[in-house]
Amino acid sequence: MIILKSPDEIKNMAQSCSIVAKTLDAIKAIVKPGITTEEIENFADAYIRANNAVPAFKGYRGYPASICASVNNEVIHGIPSDRVLKEGDILSIDLGVYKDGFYGDAACTFPVGKILPNAERLLRVTEGSLYIGIENAMPGNRISDISYSIQRHVKSKGFSVVRAFVGHGIGRELHEEPQIPNFGPPNRGPRLMPGMTLAIEPMVNEGGYEVLILDDGWTTVTLDGKLSAHFEHTILVTSDKPEILTKIS
Ligand code: MF3
Ligand code: CO
Repeated sequence: MIILKSPDEIKNMAQSCSIVAKTLDAIKAIVKPGITTEEIENFADAYIRANNAVPAFKGYRGYPASICASVNNEVIHGIPSDRVLKEGDILSIDLGVYKDGFYGDAACTFPVGKILPNAERLLRVTEGSLYIGIENAMPGNRISDISYSIQRHVKSKGFSVVRAFVGHGIGRELHEEPQIPNFGPPNRGPRLMPGMTLAIEPMVNEGGYEVLILDDGWTTVTLDGKLSAHFEHTILVTSDKPEILTKIS
């Protein structure tokens, strides 16, 4: 069942989502060659708590940190560590916040210093595919119209969409129905309705779509070792254009 949110519930969600957006924006300012992902973790954890919110990922199914920090060939769920970022890396930060009964969730891939043109292009195409997916989150459309529009864009640019992980409904739970794949044929799945809150999150690989989970049980990497990027927003389906709740205001 897909849970529609009332205007009051949406106000609450908007608050959680705004803290997610502010945290990502603050992280953006400290991502530089020389910093470790553990330092970014500590910064983010403190920032979220200073906003009277709780990091949503910490302890989720045993996940050990408040953010996911995935570098280069790491697709998602990279665990913060003493790894030092260097010029030319790309860093995907995924974070969730829980406040007053509701979750917010977003991700962004940041360049570390100056990056190569192929990496630049991967980030641009992945973020572009997220915005195209969001544009298609219109009432009357079906869930897979979002999926199809994302994959179409990514494919046309010569990159591939990760299939092993998908977007999701979000609200009083971090993961609610429906699942939102970033690939597949259009015109399938439930119809979109105003009041649905969705986390749309394309993960895009420079090479093949196949991924591998490392022995830590979390870190997901590309099978071919090439780069991967991840952009995510929590959005609200309305009677008109969707509203991006995790947008920096
Ligand atoms: N951001 C992920 C998602 O969108 C959740 C991360 S799972 C965690 O589904 F375990 F890392 F928290
Ligand atoms: Co998510």
